[in-house]
Amino acid sequence: MNVQRLRSFFPVTRELAYLNHAGVAPISTRAEEALRRYAQEATRHGALHYDAVYDAEVERVRDRAALLLGARREEIAFVKNTTEGLGLVAAGLDWRSGDQVVTCDLEYPSNVHPWQALRAQGVETILLRGEAGRLPIGRVAEALESRRVRLLALSSVEFGSGARNDLDALGGLCRERGVLFCVDAIQSLGCLPLRPEASGVDFLAADGHKWLLSVEGCGIFYCRRGLLDRLRPRIVGWRNVADNRDFDTYQSELQESAVRFEEGTPNTPGIFALGGALDLILELGIDAIAARVLGLTDLLADGLAERGATVLSPRAPGETSGIVSFRWGDEAPERTAARLRRAGVFCVARRGGVRASPHFYNEEAEIAGLLAALD
Ligand SMILES: Cc1ncc(COP(=O)(O)O)c(C=O)c1O
Repeated sequence: MNVQRLRSFFPVTRELAYLNHAGVAPISTRAEEALRRYAQEATRHGALHYDAVYDAEVERVRDRAALLLGARREEIAFVKNTTEGLGLVAAGLDWRSGDQVVTCDLEYPSNVHPWQALRAQGVETILLRGEAGRLPIGRVAEALESRRVRLLALSSVEFGSGARNDLDALGGLCRERGVLFCVDAIQSLGCLPLRPEASGVDFLAADGHKWLLSVEGCGIFYCRRGLLDRLRPRIVGWRNVADNRDFDTYQSELQESAVRFEEGTPNTPGIFALGGALDLILELGIDAIAARVLGLTDLLADGLAERGATVLSPRAPGETSGIVSFRWGDEAPERTAARLRRAGVFCVARRGGVRASPHFYNEEAEIAGLLAALD
């Protein structure tokens, strides 16, 4: 991977060491160019070439998203964010009073609130306790012993600690017990490989504004093909019906594909940007990106430990991700993050630690810069 060449796609590198991809990432010039293409078309031609330009790009980007996930195009819908994708599952399944959803206390609120909001329908949310930043799989296995569990909802990577959940093992447990598996993938999609079908994941959602290096407000929702019929869209409009180009007939039949979850006009500029971002990721290859990111986070975690910082992120093989969380002595993480920011290193404080999250275009020198700025 030619990091110097790649840095030219990220003008932010001229300003600072950007280590906050787990928060909101800068977009690449590839996403910027795609957005510009949209803007030029919109200003010069309006909707004159709607099918040939807008529709064609939306469907091309759907294919790109499917390729990244090893999925079929009919399993992909565009959503406005991760929360909407998780909400589609919460709102769309046929819950019965007494059902249980299992999640955990390391999760971002987006993956807890939608399930807790089902309480009015008699659905109980079980919040498993994490330990040292990770969720021990034994706790999940134990919780899934209950025949009342309908769904397991977890993140691919925990947003605070950076612990990577073993999706293959969790998906295997879910399959054995006939439990649905819904994954909040925003903390790994674009930096670590993720193949929902191979891992036994039934639903997945991720917005574009973190590791995918795209804009806010346009994300990907995956629904396993065999489940499309079981998930009822919470909003039905012109776009999710069977023939969405027939504006004269009020239809009750839904699209067969995941377009059934897209009720109206899509976020076309957002999808253009996402397309530019996905093209870059697919060109580099997700395995090469993962190797690079994990190499940088290893370097950072080792450097932090050598300097006597407390590394909070689980670091065992298979548990690492693009996130390293740490504390510097007894300094408040907010204070450490503010100090680093003054030194030109952008990380943030989350869940009791300073969270640093480099992407493939960051340099070893930027990691060294963070370490030097701590002292
Ligand atoms: C794990 C996780 N899920 C969801 C979100 C929020 O996602 P969105 O704003 O796309 O709904 C975040 C944002 O930090 C997150 O870290």
